[in-house]
Amino acid sequence: MAETILELTDVFKSFVLGAETVEIIKGVSFQVQKGDFVVLFGPSGCGKSTVLNMSLGLEPPSKGAVKFLGKDLYASGGEDDRAQIRKKEVGMVYQQSNWVKSLNVLENVYFPLTLRGESLEEREKKAINILKLVGMEQGAYQAPTELSSGQQQRISLARALITEPALIVADEPTGNLDSKAGEDIMSLFKEFNDQGKTVVMVTHDLEYLKYATRSINMSDGLVVGEYKKDDPRLKKMSVSKRGNISDKLKV
Ligand SMILES: Nc1ncnc2c1ncn2[C@@H]1O[C@H](COP(=O)(O)OP(=O)(O)O)[C@@H](O)[C@H]1O
Ligand SMILES: [Mg+2]
Repeated sequence: MAETILELTDVFKSFVLGAETVEIIKGVSFQVQKGDFVVLFGPSGCGKSTVLNMSLGLEPPSKGAVKFLGKDLYASGGEDDRAQIRKKEVGMVYQQSNWVKSLNVLENVYFPLTLRGESLEEREKKAINILKLVGMEQGAYQAPTELSSGQQQRISLARALITEPALIVADEPTGNLDSKAGEDIMSLFKEFNDQGKTVVMVTHDLEYLKYATRSINMSDGLVVGEYKKDDPRLKKMSVSKRGNISDKLKV
């Protein structure tokens, strides 16, 4: 049996907004197994990022359990334990790359290893190697901000992979990219998943469901559908939505 990386069981989340308590997540359960490429999709505002943040130990649920590598993230241990798990076991890619501006591409990519105290020689070797895998070794000595958005996302992925985490998490990684650069970065995620990396990605773009081994549809704080790769219902969904840009405009 495949190892379970992440397990959410009947998770709820409420936020207090002024005098009101608003329930944003209304009982979400799903699992991520080793080797999965899970795409969590649904309209803007349905709660995808909130689910990711709870999964990463960044936001305690109001009710329900989140297990990461078998450990209940919020039942025992505090912020420090959760931060340690993130540092060790998770690689993150966001819509907007976040760079240490005084460092070049190579130094940014090996920054997570700098925090671990690895030798300069080790760090450089690993960073060059991973930059080659994302096709960005020629930019190693440039400032990240000199590069295009698509190139910066490749470098973000390299930085996420360098610690060999158990899970790669990406929240709308194509959000700032044109469709060509979007497909390029998605193909890279797919390549790494084919090599055994476990990925959870959030998107509101149905075009990208084709890369997933499993797609989870969220709507208004609930999981309303879960589909295996090549489920014909997925194809129908992405075709019927094509040309409808209202979802994209809401981001
Ligand atoms: N920290 C917060 N405080 C209050 N409301 C929040 C907070 N985070 C998210 N929300 C609300 O929860 C809903 C879901 O947000 P989010 O998880 O970011 O959705 P998605 O990622 O699917 O676009 C939105 O209505 C948002 O305004
Ligand atoms: Mg979001």
